[in-house]
Amino acid sequence: MNADVFVLEDLVSRKMLDAGHDKPAILAVLGFPVGHSASPAMHQPALDACGIDGRYIRLEVPVGRVAEALLGLRELGFVGANITVPHKFAALDACHQVDDEARLIGAVNTVKFVDGEVHGWNTDGLGFARAIREEFMVDLRGQRVMVIGAGGGAGQAVATQCARDGAERLVLVNRTLEKVETLAVLLRRRFPATKFHCVALNDPQLEGVARQCQILVNTSSVGLRADDGSPVDANCFASHHLVYDTIYKPPLTSFLRQALLQQASVANGFSMLLHQGVLAFDIWYPGRAPLEIMRQGLRSVS
Ligand code: ATR
Repeated sequence: MNADVFVLEDLVSRKMLDAGHDKPAILAVLGFPVGHSASPAMHQPALDACGIDGRYIRLEVPVGRVAEALLGLRELGFVGANITVPHKFAALDACHQVDDEARLIGAVNTVKFVDGEVHGWNTDGLGFARAIREEFMVDLRGQRVMVIGAGGGAGQAVATQCARDGAERLVLVNRTLEKVETLAVLLRRRFPATKFHCVALNDPQLEGVARQCQILVNTSSVGLRADDGSPVDANCFASHHLVYDTIYKPPLTSFLRQALLQQASVANGFSMLLHQGVLAFDIWYPGRAPLEIMRQGLRSVS
């Protein structure tokens, strides 16, 4: 695995990027900060297993400079890139073409350079759907799902995927209610078969609404810090719930711990991270993503 972090200035020439390496850099993850990204741990072993002569690098890109970074990578002949926080929204504007999912949520997490153009995708939502299937052996179709923190980037991707896959009811929960009300208007228009319900995080009715759902997902950033509590009260959980936290570090958040205390089934965001990565690799190299090798690689760092 290549643990180096490159900066925009390194894109001036191949020499800067590849000095001291026997393989050329061909894929990158763009973020700020980006040193903590686990993506190289799954994509480098995937490249190696496929016999592709190339490196997957981390590229630190300051806010406002993602378009410049993408053009630099294109000029150097890169295959594609992953886009992470805080660039997912700005990256959309840098693309010549984007897929439906990315357009709908306004954010791109994967790009591929095609005939001199930048094409964008968002694999977060589909990665979530695959994670739910793998962890709980259920599809989103017909489910009543509560998405907590649906105002953020991850939440919008998860909520959109639930609607796209035919969830019966989608409860969008957020500290700032207006954000999910705007999202609900958009999704309602596009997916009229799903019932949408917006609830503020501090609404006393949250408990009762949660109990009527089958799947509860935390997509908020509450839980990332070691001293964070759960974004929702312990009384929201029941034994029939399938509870997913998109956070994978720490592996057992307060949200999941409280759910476990109520005998709910739980899983963390490791599987979503893995599957969004597998989908990205399949965009760069159709049909070639080695799932188990990528899982193993990711496990070695999380
Ligand atoms: P993004 O994913 O767009 O970078 P974020 O700032 O990381 O956004 O926040 C992601 C989600 O976590 C949002 O839904 C946010 O709620 P708001 O829309 O009200 O900001 C939620 N979130 C972040 N900190 C929170 C907190 N302390 N309590 C409750 N929700 C919080």
